[in-house]
Amino acid sequence: MSSSTDASSSQPPVDVFELGDEHEQVVFCHDRPTGLRAIVAIHSTALGPALGGTRFYPYATTDDAVRDVLNLSRGMSYKAALAGLDLGGGKAVIIGDPATLKSEALLRAYGRFVQSLNGRYYTACDVGTYSEDMDHIARECDFVTGRTTAHGGAGDSSVLTAYGVFQGMRAAAEATWGEPTLGGRTVGVAGVGKVGHHLVRHLVEDGATVVVTDPHQPSVDRVREEFPQVTVVADTEALVGSALDVYAPCALGGALTDEVVETLSAVIVCGAANNQLAHPGVEKALEERGILYAPDYCVNSGGLIQVADELEGFSFERAQQRATGIFATTRSVFETARRDGVPPAVAADRLAEKRMRNVGRLRGLWLG
Ligand SMILES: NC(=O)c1ccc[n+]([C@@H]2O[C@H](COP(=O)([O-])OP(=O)(O)OC[C@H]3O[C@@H](n4cnc5c(N)ncnc54)[C@H](O)[C@@H]3O)[C@@H](O)[C@H]2O)c1
Repeated sequence: MSSSTDASSSQPPVDVFELGDEHEQVVFCHDRPTGLRAIVAIHSTALGPALGGTRFYPYATTDDAVRDVLNLSRGMSYKAALAGLDLGGGKAVIIGDPATLKSEALLRAYGRFVQSLNGRYYTACDVGTYSEDMDHIARECDFVTGRTTAHGGAGDSSVLTAYGVFQGMRAAAEATWGEPTLGGRTVGVAGVGKVGHHLVRHLVEDGATVVVTDPHQPSVDRVREEFPQVTVVADTEALVGSALDVYAPCALGGALTDEVVETLSAVIVCGAANNQLAHPGVEKALEERGILYAPDYCVNSGGLIQVADELEGFSFERAQQRATGIFATTRSVFETARRDGVPPAVAADRLAEKRMRNVGRLRGLWLG
């Protein structure tokens, strides 16, 4: 089945069954009066109900949206598995510009479609959706997390995402220099938005020298106001080219290109951004250059841990304690990589797949 709607798309048309060969379910949702066009993809429920955010984005074509939702939902299965959560992987996209299309009615229509999946998929925030939107969706749907704290939700997930990235970075520091601290090291943070800003605080408190860049001047000003000792450089190129011990991509995906890997003086890469490897093979190039890469989905699972905790009635302390475990998980990824002679990105995939297999299998035991 092809979902292609735009012959001008530079990529070949999508065959959903072929591209989604690993996926369990892909649901197209349409509500003409509100303009809702959404796709929910459930990659795996081997470990529990699929959880993943709803991305509200003006995709150029339906195929682009399908590719994105299939890719993102697969990533969520791996993230949840490695984080030790009893959750599967799913994701949803709403096609359109949130600035003009988003309305209470559209979000509630979407909520009814998510409700119809009867708990196989739980939604949350992602690019273009916020806790307030989750509150609207929750008026029609029981399977929502990441709501506002006023509605009993976990609120802004960037707090524990940054905390988890910092834990992963400590594990990388230990593997590289023998001590789990960034004290005395120079860390470059690309992107000081919601996550990057909190990460800078952890780094400064740990005694690191921090260099940042962000094209959004108000974000830079906020960091400089709070931490005057932080150095600002013009752009990512300048940051990557400066003398760093650690590079933390906290902006967009695809940050680790061949050129970046060649230029980088840092010996550790550890940041919040999703899908940092620009293409398959970059993980090997990093290894060949002696750069330790802390896999993105391993270290940035703090936000998922935070919103998953909401399903039990949110406790920040309990969620933070779980996010502290990212230190041990990252350490075990590095140990597995060393033992198996593979890059950490491959080791992380192996550990996640092993847990999906071993724990997922238990659900096949007949309980009488
Ligand atoms: N928020 C979470 O809980 C969470 C969880 C997991 C992963 N992530 C990932 O972490 C990354 C950051 O998320 P966020 O919530 O902080 O987003 P955000 O939008 O608040 O911040 C991103 C920042 O990056 C800046 N930026 C854009 N292009 C840049 C460039 N070329 N160089 C430097 N900076 C640039 C933006 O101006 C913005 O300030 C994203 O990739 C996101 O998918 C976030």
